[in-house]
Amino acid sequence: MTPLPPLGVYIHWPYCAHICPYCDFNVFRVRRPEEPAALAQAILADLRAQAELTGPRILTSIFFGGGTPSLMEPDWAAEMVATARRLWTAAPDLEVSLEANPTDAEAARFAAFAGAGVNRLSLGLQALDDASLSFLGRNHDAATGVRAAAAAARAFPRLSLDLIYARPGQTPDAWAEELRRTVDLGAEHVSPYQLTIETGTAFDRAVQRGRFKPADPELGAVLYETTQATLEAEGFTAYEVSNHARGEAARSRHNLVYWQGHDYVGAGPGAHGRITRGGQRHATIGELKPADYIARVATDGVGFPELEALSPLEAAEERVLSGLRIAEGVPRADLTALDLGPTRTAHLVELGLLADDPERLRATAAGRLVLDRLTAELLT
Ligand SMILES: C[S@@+](CC[C@H](N)C(=O)[O-])C[C@H]1O[C@@H](n2cnc3c(N)ncnc32)[C@H](O)[C@@H]1O
Ligand code: SF4
Repeated sequence: MTPLPPLGVYIHWPYCAHICPYCDFNVFRVRRPEEPAALAQAILADLRAQAELTGPRILTSIFFGGGTPSLMEPDWAAEMVATARRLWTAAPDLEVSLEANPTDAEAARFAAFAGAGVNRLSLGLQALDDASLSFLGRNHDAATGVRAAAAAARAFPRLSLDLIYARPGQTPDAWAEELRRTVDLGAEHVSPYQLTIETGTAFDRAVQRGRFKPADPELGAVLYETTQATLEAEGFTAYEVSNHARGEAARSRHNLVYWQGHDYVGAGPGAHGRITRGGQRHATIGELKPADYIARVATDGVGFPELEALSPLEAAEERVLSGLRIAEGVPRADLTALDLGPTRTAHLVELGLLADDPERLRATAAGRLVLDRLTAELLT
């Protein structure tokens, strides 16, 4: 009997207590107090309807992302986990991750989320000094972040910490020290993201008005290299551009679902999904606004307006874009729709950007540093 294909489930909880000035995720403040409970019910209904589309699968991961899913009632999260386990066949080592902000109020609910089935917490620490947190417009200070990380390390078997670097005035030495202090908080996984000034955010307007200057690309590259060297010395492997894990078991199984090109169901406002039916890959995007999403589920059963069929070329391009992010790359056999055989890529191997590997299209560490340029070159 052929094994059932793997499946990840992404649940987007779009509400935040406070909108950070750099963030362009699909986020909202709660305007109608009854809306979050209605959204939880809509997500449950969407999961049930999408199980009809995927058919039987092995459920390898559930990821509660946001927004701030640690603000949802732990009972709702428990119901979503139990529902997903009923709808698909849960893998024995099912990974259930939840993103959280490090405030005391949220830390007080960690045990309840662990009871709901969450076994991995991804905590948005962002920085370990008050001046940086204030610059980033965060609603917590450094001491609260450290307290929340300690509470998370007690409550969950697995802990991942997010940081934002390339902040104005940051030096490589100070950044290396901050990374080491982060590791000491008990994380098996660290995701340092370079600050990106996203169009339309408050930071974008601030930069345009000259209120601050983003780090120049050379400093960004030096800080990226500092990240790789410091975390490697601490025993972490950079298995993806911005993701470092202490050993293979500490990798985010959910993110690997994306990067290895497996299917995932997306539920919640703006959630993306990829579902293969009859050999054809389809993309889904949930309605962006919570009220529209709830209304869509009420009328159509699912929360997205269409199941968009991807052509073999589009599907292969996506495999390149996501697969080159991870050190293991993509099997060339998955890319037959593209002309990317060893002859076509030889010049990039010579430049040291791709590994010399006839079986897999694989970026080197140097290639991952200039990934946007590398993928643009491969896909033109
Ligand atoms: C969707 S956020 C959710 C996490 C949680 N709400 C929080 O803020 O801690 C996931 C991560 O993306 C990163 N992020 C968001 N916007 C970013 C930006 N403009 N530049 C760099 N990193 C960013 C942050 O590190 C954040 O923890
Ligand atoms: S960074 Fe996190 S808390 Fe801040 S607005 Fe984005 S999702 Fe919300």
